[in-house]
Amino acid sequence: MSDRTQAEGGRSALPIHPDISRRFSPRAFSDRLVTGKELELLFEAARWAPSSMNEQPWRFVVVERGAPGHDGLVASLTGFNRQWADKAPVLILNLAVRSLSRSGETNHHAWHDLGLAVAQLTVQATSMGMGLHQLGGFELHLVKQTFSIPEGMDLVSIIALGFPGNPEQLPEPLLSRERNHSPRKALSELVIPASALLARE
Ligand SMILES: Cc1cc2nc3c(=O)[nH]c(=O)nc-3n(C[C@H](O)[C@H](O)[C@H](O)COP(=O)(O)O)c2cc1C
Repeated sequence: MSDRTQAEGGRSALPIHPDISRRFSPRAFSDRLVTGKELELLFEAARWAPSSMNEQPWRFVVVERGAPGHDGLVASLTGFNRQWADKAPVLILNLAVRSLSRSGETNHHAWHDLGLAVAQLTVQATSMGMGLHQLGGFELHLVKQTFSIPEGMDLVSIIALGFPGNPEQLPEPLLSRERNHSPRKALSELVIPASALLARE
């Protein structure tokens, strides 16, 4: 089954959770606003993510469309991102706290654990019918002209969040990308047999 066919009911050919299978990173958003209550549910889902030493090193900053700082944040996006992410009703800054609260030493799992929290937020958003697109394409020095990133935190990524819109509103090549979801590597490439890595004596 191709990814395209699977997209109608889910992208995986295997019976994984439907909210994982049907998720994709959209670029078309409707005008429907995301309420404070809906946002609370997303962050609550993120809050219950596991983290190394229970540090919970994730922090989120909500920037709603039309609010102070939104235009500046959009202007800091690179390439095509600027063309579509400005339509999302909400942008979220994903921050990672770099050091361990107990010792001040580097938390080597901070970005990993932020990713886990964002994954849980993503599944929750999908289950609520929302679309969510993460962005690494931004210029940090431009973001910093608009927002002071707190000392000791990294801005790792930005989320564009909203409800699905009409893909026809997108110009090419974004329209084609919206219709043809990203493929995946085969499981056989991703799961390496332990026997292949056994150290030789
Ligand atoms: C950390 C991160 C950064 C990303 N940055 C961008 C970006 O700057 N622009 C963009 O269009 N997509 C971006 N993406 C989306 C990926 O391209 C997308 O997740 C991938 O192609 C798989 O497609 P899917 O999410 O639709 O399954 C990013 C995703 C992640 C997780």
